Amino acid sequence: MNALIGILLVSASTALSFSLKPGASTNCTITEISQVASTVKSCQDIVISNLVVPGGQILELDLLPGARVTFEGTTKFEYFYWAGPLIRVRGENVHFQGAKGSVLDGQGALWWDSKGGAVPGKPYMFEIDVTGGLFEDIFLLNCPHHCVIISSTDLTLDRWTVDVSEGNKNNLGHNTDGFDIIYGQNVTIKNSTVSNQDDCVAINRGQDMLISGMDCTGSHGLSISVGFSKHSFLHNRVANVVIENSVLRDGDNGIHVKTHTDGYLGEIRNITYRNIRMSGIRRFGAQIQQNYPSGSGPPVGNIPITNLTFSNITGTMSGKNSMPVEITCAENACIDWSWSDVSITHAAKRSTCSYVPKGFNC
Ligand SMILES: *[C@@H]1O[C@H](CO)[C@@H](O)[C@H](O)[C@H]1NC(C)=O
Ligand SMILES: *[C@@H]1O[C@H](CO)[C@@H](O)[C@H](O)[C@H]1NC(C)=O
Ligand SMILES: *[C@@H]1O[C@H](CO)[C@@H](O)[C@H](O)[C@H]1NC(C)=O
Ligand SMILES: *[C@@H]1O[C@H](CO)[C@@H](O)[C@H](O)[C@H]1NC(C)=O
Ligand SMILES: *[C@@H]1O[C@H](CO)[C@@H](O)[C@H](O)[C@H]1NC(C)=O
Ligand SMILES: *[C@@H]1O[C@H](CO)[C@@H](O)[C@H](O)[C@H]1NC(C)=O
Repeated sequence: MNALIGILLVSASTALSFSLKPGASTNCTITEISQVASTVKSCQDIVISNLVVPGGQILELDLLPGARVTFEGTTKFEYFYWAGPLIRVRGENVHFQGAKGSVLDGQGALWWDSKGGAVPGKPYMFEIDVTGGLFEDIFLLNCPHHCVIISSTDLTLDRWTVDVSEGNKNNLGHNTDGFDIIYGQNVTIKNSTVSNQDDCVAINRGQDMLISGMDCTGSHGLSISVGFSKHSFLHNRVANVVIENSVLRDGDNGIHVKTHTDGYLGEIRNITYRNIRMSGIRRFGAQIQQNYPSGSGPPVGNIPITNLTFSNITGTMSGKNSMPVEITCAENACIDWSWSDVSITHAAKRSTCSYVPKGFNC
C-alpha cells in the first residue's frame, strides 16, 4: 500500500517537473520527425515547418482535443516500399490549415509504374480519422497511391488542391484516388480541386454527406462504390448524399455509382447529383452498374439503389468509346429514380438502360 502511494507520488512529481521545465512545452514548431511525438502530446497549436518525413514512418498526429495544426513550407515524404499512410490524423475537433505556399509532397513519381495497387508497396498518403474537424487550404502533391482516406464524423474539408497531374506522364500514375470516404457521418468536402488518375471522390460507406464545388480533371469521376463487406449490411450502406455544383474535365467517367456483386446485402439510398458540368469525358457520362467488378456479367440486386436523383447534369464527351448514360440494374433493385435536365452530348455510342429513370429518355 505505502509502496504503491510512493510510486504514484514519484511519478506525479516527475510528470510535474517535466511539464514545468522551461521551454519543454513552449516550442510547438516541428522541424524534425523526432519532435512529433512529444509535441502532439503537449501542444494545442502546432506548426509543422519544412519537415522531412523518413520513408517507412507515419507522420502520426494523434492530437489533443481542439488542437490546431498549420503546415508551413514543404512537408516532404521520402521513398520507402510500404503500405503507408504517409500521414495520419486522429483527434476531436481539430483544425488544420495549410499556410500560403505550403505543400505536402508525396514524391509519387518515385513509386509510379503504371500498375497502381496491382503492385504493392505504394503508400496511401493522408488518412483522416477524426470526430469533429476542419481541414482548410491543404495542397497535396503527387500521391504515390490513394491520396486522402477519410474515416470520420463531423468533418469538413475546404479548399484542398490534390495535384497528381504529373502522373499523366507516360501513364505512370494509377489508382491515385483523390478523396476516398471509407466511412463518413456528416462529412463535407467543398471547393476543392483534384487532378489525378482515378476517382475524384469515392464514397464507400456512411450517411449525411455533401460534396460541393469540386473541380476534377482527368479522373474516373464522382463515385459511389458500395459492397466491400462480405458480412455487414451497415458496412454496405450509403445514404443521404448530395453531390453538386461541380465540374469534370477530360476524364474516363463523370458520375459513377457501382455495387459489388460479391458483397453482402446493403443499400444506396437518397442520393442527389445536381448541377454537374462535364467536358471531354471518354467512357461514361454517367454509369450506374450493379455488376461490378465484372462490368459484363449479369447484375445482382444485393445492394438496391433507391431514390437516385439527377438534375442539371450536362456536358460533352469525346472519343470512340464514349457513351452518355449506361444503367445496368438487377430486377427490382433500382427504385424511384427521378432525373431532370440530363443532357450529355457528342458521344460516339447511344445510352443503354436496363432501368429507365422517371424524367429521362434513354
Ligand atoms: C523551436 O522552433 C524553431 C522554429 O521556430 C525550430 O527551428 C527549432 O528546432 C525549435 N527548437 C527546439 C529546441 O525544438
Ligand atoms: C456536421 O459537422 C460540422 C463540422 O464539419 C459541424 O459544424 C456540424 O455541427 C455537424 N452537424 C451535425 C448535425 O452534427
Ligand atoms: C465555394 O466558394 C465560393 C466562392 O468563394 C462560395 O461562394 C461558395 O459558397 C463555396 N461553396 C461552399 C459549398 O461553401
Ligand atoms: C435525403 O438526403 C438529404 C440530403 O442529405 C437530407 O436532407 C434528407 O433529409 C434526406 N431524406 C430522407 C428521407 O432521409
Ligand atoms: C446547372 O449547373 C450549372 C453548373 O454545372 C450551373 O452553372 C447552372 O446555373 C445550373 N442551372 C440551373 C438551372 O441550376
Ligand atoms: C423517393 O422517391 C419516391 C417516389 O418518387 C418519393 O415519393 C419520395 O419522396 C422519395 N424520397 C426521397 C427521400 O427523396
